[in-house]
Amino acid sequence: MTDSNKSATLTVHGETYELPVHSPTVGPDVIDIRKLYGQAGVFTYDPGFTSTASCDSTITYIDGEKGELLHRGYPIDQLAGKSHFLEVCYLLLYGELPAAKDLEEFETTITRHTMLHEQMQYFYRGFRRDAHPMAIMVGVVGAMSAFYHDSTDVSDPQQREIASHRLIAKMPTIAAWAYKYHIGQPFIYPRNDLDYASNFLRMCFAVPAEEYEVNPILSRAMDRIFTLHADHEQNASTSTVRLASSSGANPFACIAAGIACLWGPAHGGANQACLEMLAEIGSVDRIPEFIDRAKDKDDPFRLMGFGHRVYKNFDPRAKVMKQSADEVLDLLGIEDNPKLQVAKALEKQALEDPYFAEKKLFPNVDFYSGIILEAMGFPTSMFTPIFALSRTVGWVSQWKEMIADPQNKIGRPRQLYLGETARDYVDIENR
Ligand code: CMC
Repeated sequence: MTDSNKSATLTVHGETYELPVHSPTVGPDVIDIRKLYGQAGVFTYDPGFTSTASCDSTITYIDGEKGELLHRGYPIDQLAGKSHFLEVCYLLLYGELPAAKDLEEFETTITRHTMLHEQMQYFYRGFRRDAHPMAIMVGVVGAMSAFYHDSTDVSDPQQREIASHRLIAKMPTIAAWAYKYHIGQPFIYPRNDLDYASNFLRMCFAVPAEEYEVNPILSRAMDRIFTLHADHEQNASTSTVRLASSSGANPFACIAAGIACLWGPAHGGANQACLEMLAEIGSVDRIPEFIDRAKDKDDPFRLMGFGHRVYKNFDPRAKVMKQSADEVLDLLGIEDNPKLQVAKALEKQALEDPYFAEKKLFPNVDFYSGIILEAMGFPTSMFTPIFALSRTVGWVSQWKEMIADPQNKIGRPRQLYLGETARDYVDIENR
């Protein structure tokens, strides 16, 4: 990993230190500061990890300048166009595209793990009826640790494998049941003759009183949304999963932590926030008012679905999502969708505005996904749970990679302390 011809020199307090430099297969070089504190007695300071690699990984690569996203080397637009979600899951988990026999076996395994322990229903029923589905997801996924004891020993590779399959297989059932509970309808059990996306749609929209036919167009669009969200290297929720699991915590607890992190509006919650924003804007003529608010330093309002920590050119997922939104609305015969019209006009006006151009702010994956999900019949509260179910494979793949790494150690950042220095306790009557 280290290129012996490359090193960095750092001068601290007049002393010079030679730091090793690692070269990745693609992307910028990385200065290794692991021994810096021991040698020089200083820390580095990087809130938000804007310049810090927290691990090495072989799963996903992003080039933010080029707008490129690769899973195990394969570009996301090729995977979204030619592959399907479970094949991408296999690729992320095992590193290579599966042979036909391996894919069949993997799909069978995932399909056979989709049911939830029957007693988990009681757990759902403990939530208030109006609970947000993300609140239910955080709780139920964490509670899996109490239901599946035989796959919580992280030191056993076989248990890790079973936990991975369980999480990927059960997450659609967990998300669909969170929705059903939220709207007061009976839970619908999974069906093994349906593919992953169709099964999810049926568990969300079927009722026991009548047959439900899965629309293949919607199933394909759903599968593409899953694929586009499958992994995104060391984002906030993935880093949360890695940090939680660095202590040796069980996989279900760690994924629950990832779901909690994803919920925030700066991360996975942006798809819900974006659709709510498009509804609030309401019509094309009101766009300038919102653009002005987004530019105003004294107004906390931001254009939701715009901007990204890594992408500084365009988000390749947003491109596919925009095309998908057009296709789905067209195929469903929804003409003149006001939110799509506002979204397209907002994108155009923002991209022509020097503020967004200078700060390299472009639509991200969440900008168009809500429009598709709403057209499919999902309420905004289900957008982030769908993101969580899609991202589960990414979290699990990164977790497995980390646990299998012999260099894995507990994550423990340092700090720049700016508080009081040591002082003596003052008795209450003397304060
Ligand atoms: N609208 C208006 N201004 C923005 C926006 C926005 N959406 N995003 C960033 N800026 C400005 C920001 O005010 C700052 O300006 P200045 O340098 O003058 O202070 C500059 O651009 C850089 O922003 P930052 O917050 O320092 O950048 P970041 O890398 O820390 O944040 C982000 C990235 C995604 C959190 C942010 O762009 C944002 O809040 N976007 C809206 C929420 C959103 O769509 N999130 C989904 C991200 S993609 C899917 C996912 O990760 O789950």
